Amino acid sequence: MGSRTSVSPRPEAGVAPRDLGYAPGDPAFVADPYPVFARLREEAPVAFDPATGQWIVTRHADVSAALRDRRLGRTYLHVATHEEWGHEAPPEWQDPFWDVARLQLLDLEPPDHTRLRRLLARAFTPRAVEAMRPRIVAIVDDLVGAVADLREFDLLADLVEPFPVAVVADMLGIPEADRRLLRPWSAEFTLMFEIDATDDQRRRAAVASGDFAAYLSELVRERRERPRDDLLSQMVHPGEAGDAMSDAEVVANAILLLNAGHEATVNGAGNAWFALFRHPAALAALRAHPELAPTAVDELLRFDTPAPMFERWVLEDVEIDGVTIPAGDEIALQFGAANRDPAAFADADALVLDRAPNPHVAFGAGIHFCLGAPLARLELDILYRALVERLPTLELAAEPEWKPRFVLRGLRALPVRIA
Ligand code: HEM
Repeated sequence: MGSRTSVSPRPEAGVAPRDLGYAPGDPAFVADPYPVFARLREEAPVAFDPATGQWIVTRHADVSAALRDRRLGRTYLHVATHEEWGHEAPPEWQDPFWDVARLQLLDLEPPDHTRLRRLLARAFTPRAVEAMRPRIVAIVDDLVGAVADLREFDLLADLVEPFPVAVVADMLGIPEADRRLLRPWSAEFTLMFEIDATDDQRRRAAVASGDFAAYLSELVRERRERPRDDLLSQMVHPGEAGDAMSDAEVVANAILLLNAGHEATVNGAGNAWFALFRHPAALAALRAHPELAPTAVDELLRFDTPAPMFERWVLEDVEIDGVTIPAGDEIALQFGAANRDPAAFADADALVLDRAPNPHVAFGAGIHFCLGAPLARLELDILYRALVERLPTLELAAEPEWKPRFVLRGLRALPVRIA
């Protein structure tokens, strides 16, 4: 999205989030944002942050309502240009990135969003996802088998990272030999989404987008000529209502699926296992009762949310908790804060593996609710069961470090040993 030409301080907005410790660029905040989230929820639940020009919203009820509010949008480009919205258009060298991002489901609003979501949803019906189970079990079995003989390894690099990449690449029909390219492209592409991304990071994101799109365009061309039994071939085919995706839309959304499949799932599993190692009683309960896995998956996503913040543009004035936010402003919804709100969850700071109901917003809500949620839940369920059943003595080998990123919050590595 375009950068702001001017960010005016809003003294009328009350306490500034930075005064309460909100510091997405600070490693200490990234490592443990929860005490700051608690203060924000209590003292300044809707607070203007002059540093980013965003309104920080932290209460569960507000985040949840905002996600369903059609006066807010993931983009404004369906109603205005960057200039009309008072923003500078991104510089031309970023075009390879925006040419992809502006066609992705996640950055569209109706009617384009409705058309693309309907076409993509064909691959994520409960039946379609369930049909992937044997393949996912086989992928996890292979990966767990490969680490089972090691005494020490990195749970992230050696097991968790290759896993969702393999699943989505398999779904899309990306040739085995090319898969090593995907993870680096995906990691570089998503650098653009970080708050305070540097120019160097943005350049890397633009270069990776161009390479990623060129690679997939070639594959899409092949699938149009010789369709196979894979998601890319399905995406180039029109839906029942006669809706269709252009090649550029297929490429952009294949990138979205690969990115979503990599980043959030990897960070989700990494954060979850770090939390389990810090809560030995919960880990012991999961080992004794692997059938807890489905509720544990959701509770661990609530407890340490891997994608803790998503933004919305204000398309028409809205009032949240008595604060009027004018059209044109931007809101940063804090899913991580909402998911620890004691007003929505009893014992919100405790890890309760059989928590039910669990109205967390780790997958969002409303029209952009995570399309891949059924797949992510199945992947994590299979992974956690395999880990507790096949590696029952797994333990933390060293204190892990957090990556210096807030928007996609996860660990650099998770050193473990088989005791
Ligand atoms: C634990 C793993 C995951 C988490 C925590 C997660 C989280 C989210 C969230 C919060 C959103 C909504 C963002 C917003 O409202 O602004 C979203 C959207 C989306 N996710 Fe996921 N996701 C995960 C895994 C996946 C997977 C595995 C896929 C597909 C392979 C996927 C595909 C998508 C897509 C396509 C959207 C856009 C939906 C739309 O705009 O209509 N996600 N995800």
